[in-house]
Amino acid sequence: MYPVGASITLDDLAGDVHPHLARLRATEPVSWLPALGGWLVTDRTSALEVLRDAATYTVDDPRFSTAQVVGPSMLSTDGDEHTRHRAPFASPFQQAAVREGFEDWTGSTARQLVETLATRPEKRAAPRADLRSELAGPLAVAAIARALGLVDADPDRVLGWYRAIVVGVEGVNAGLEVGDDTRRAVADLRAEVDRTVREAAGSMLAGVAGESSLTADEVFSNTAVLMFGAIETSEGMTANALAHLLTDPDQTDAVRSDRSLVAGAVEESLRMEPAATLVDRYTTVDVVLGDALIPAGDLVTVSLAGANRDPEVFLEPDRYDVRRDNARLQLAFVKGPHVCLGLHLARLQTIAAVDAVLNLLPNVHLDHASRNGGFEPARGLVFRKPARVPVRWSASGNVR
Ligand code: HEM
Repeated sequence: MYPVGASITLDDLAGDVHPHLARLRATEPVSWLPALGGWLVTDRTSALEVLRDAATYTVDDPRFSTAQVVGPSMLSTDGDEHTRHRAPFASPFQQAAVREGFEDWTGSTARQLVETLATRPEKRAAPRADLRSELAGPLAVAAIARALGLVDADPDRVLGWYRAIVVGVEGVNAGLEVGDDTRRAVADLRAEVDRTVREAAGSMLAGVAGESSLTADEVFSNTAVLMFGAIETSEGMTANALAHLLTDPDQTDAVRSDRSLVAGAVEESLRMEPAATLVDRYTTVDVVLGDALIPAGDLVTVSLAGANRDPEVFLEPDRYDVRRDNARLQLAFVKGPHVCLGLHLARLQTIAAVDAVLNLLPNVHLDHASRNGGFEPARGLVFRKPARVPVRWSASGNVR
């Protein structure tokens, strides 16, 4: 019934996925994939239908692992309950608030990180760096640490909690119990959230706790989800954007000489390779989607990468074009009730990182022959990014 879907393996989805998604979209845009134990949606119209209809395609299902580790949150609820969880966090993440609180900060933090990597003594002789581990990752952690405003948590502590919670969620996905390290991290983060609510009047979390009906448990679970949702994805978004841009010297030059193109370059990268590429829902009723009849209770996975290269919407979808005029139609942050809460903050970070790299690293280009392994394209089943973004630049001389 779904021969292309039946032929696709988890390795295909984690590796060079785009040709497989193109094949699916052309013949079975809503397909049953035994490898996923669910349906995979690869055309943009059906993707939007799923993402916008939370009554039919829900996240409120015990099979979701995040809720098992941190408790129910906006990520695992729908309808009125979802609104109750999400609304108190909405205003600090609105565009104007994020600009005011973060525009200067992301600019100066990205600049500092690039200055640091460029001026280390060993870099002066042979200027090279990995922009994923030395820029994208640290910027992502510092941004969410600052946004959460925990009283006594520096970025390293935040990263430690994040890593332990990821291990817990992955373990639950693999059928394991939540381990001791994860429990300890959850308890530590919980204590820190409670302390911030008590002691930091004026902080985001004290505001949320004071003005909403959320219990202390719920303030904690949503804080954990904010942290969980921010780190891997923002690192991937920045790494992917730098990799796409620096792969193509003509487009690098175009953006370098016209900085109004940076936002478009970032948007186009989100279209080409959304950092979180699969999102899951469960059907609440029997439903027809495209040509497929999907029974109640089935897993429906939306391929955001598939939707983002739908040729019905995007001309020559496999071409990276910083001037594409409809790149904003990409679905990397999804649409509908679960649209990413951090999208304005995430965009600011990546734009700041691209600007800092172009400003401070003359003639920067991807290093295809790095000693630690050259550049390899993004990979990953759910979260996609390159393992490294190795670059070189000129120690001195004109910026290209
Ligand atoms: C500052 C950084 C970020 C923060 C604080 C953040 C936070 C969140 C939160 C809290 C949600 C849940 C919203 C809800 O369920 O109502 C969410 C959803 C989502 N975010 Fe983000 N996020 C960030 C960055 C990113 C980035 C960089 C990407 C990808 C490029 C991304 C992709 C998504 C997606 C796909 C969803 C929807 C999940 C679903 O519908 O199942 N996020 N984000």
